[in-house]
Amino acid sequence: MSDLYCVFGNPIAHSKSPAIHAAFADETGQDLRYEARLAPVDGFLQAVAEFVAAGGQGANVTVPFKEEAFRLATRLSERAARAGAVNTLVFNGNEIFGDNTDGAGMVRDITHNLGYALAGKRILLLGAGGASRGVIAPLLAENPASLFIANRSADKALALAASFADMATVDAGNFADSAGKSFDIVINATSASLSGESLPLPPGIFVAGGLAYDMMYGKGETPFLALARAQGAGRCADGLGMLVEQAAEAFFVWRAVRPTAAPVLAELRAKLGQ
Ligand code: ATR
Repeated sequence: MSDLYCVFGNPIAHSKSPAIHAAFADETGQDLRYEARLAPVDGFLQAVAEFVAAGGQGANVTVPFKEEAFRLATRLSERAARAGAVNTLVFNGNEIFGDNTDGAGMVRDITHNLGYALAGKRILLLGAGGASRGVIAPLLAENPASLFIANRSADKALALAASFADMATVDAGNFADSAGKSFDIVINATSASLSGESLPLPPGIFVAGGLAYDMMYGKGETPFLALARAQGAGRCADGLGMLVEQAAEAFFVWRAVRPTAAPVLAELRAKLGQ
C-alpha cells in the first residue's frame, strides 16, 4: 500500500495540490497517494480523525481550516507558531505536528524562481490578515532593509507589525501612509484580487527594476498586477510559483526529499494559458 496524504479544504474540488504532489512523487520515485478531501465547514476535526484512521500520514490544509489545524496540532514548528496557522500536518502516533510552508514557498519563489534577492531590499506587504501574517517571519529572516505593512484598516497592520517587533522593526499604516516612499518589492497579501478589486495604492511606490508579487493567481492578470504594471513595476508575478513551492516544502517535510518545482510550475502555467 502506498503512503497516504491529502489536502483538506472547503471548497476543494479545484485544488491543484493532488496533481502537484503526484508529479513530485513521480519525479522523486516516492511511493505515495495524495487525495483532495472535502471537509464540512464544521467538521474538520472529524475529517482528520477519519483520515488518520484510514492510515493517512500527513495532510495539507487550506481555506478555511488553517487556524483550526493550528489549534489541533500537538506540536508546532517555529514558523507555524509565528504564522498562527498551519498548512501542513504530520500524523505520527499520538502526535500531530503542525507546520506552515507558505512563507518559505513564497520566499523560494521570489529568490530562486524569479531571481530577486530579498536581502537589503525595501519591502511593502499589502494586507494584515492570515496570508500576510504567514509570510512575515520568513521575509524578515532574509534580512530586508525594511518592511512596511499597509492595510485598509491601519490598526490591524500596526498590531501585526507589533507582534514581530522582537524580530525586526516593522513599520505599518494604511495604504495612504506608504505615499512618498518607494519599494523594491511590493507583495499583495490582501484578498482583494479574489473579488476582482483593485487597491487604492498611492502613485510612485513601484520602482523600475522592482518586483510586484501577487499571492493570488488565476487566468489573466490580477487587478493588483495590472495596476503595478501601469505604475511602472519592473517585473510582475502571480502566486502560482508560491503554490508549487509551498507544496514542494510540504513534500520535503513529509518525505525528507526535495522535489524540483520548476517543471511542475511550467506545466501549470501552460494549462492556465500563460
Ligand atoms: P487572508 O487569510 O486571505 O489574509 P483575511 O484574514 O480575511 O484573509 O484578510 C484579508 C485581508 O485582505 C485584510 O488585510 C483585508 O483588509 P482589512 O483588514 O482592512 O479588512 C484585505 N482586503 C480584503 N478585501 C480588500 C479590498 N477590497 N481592499 C483592500 N483590502 C482588502
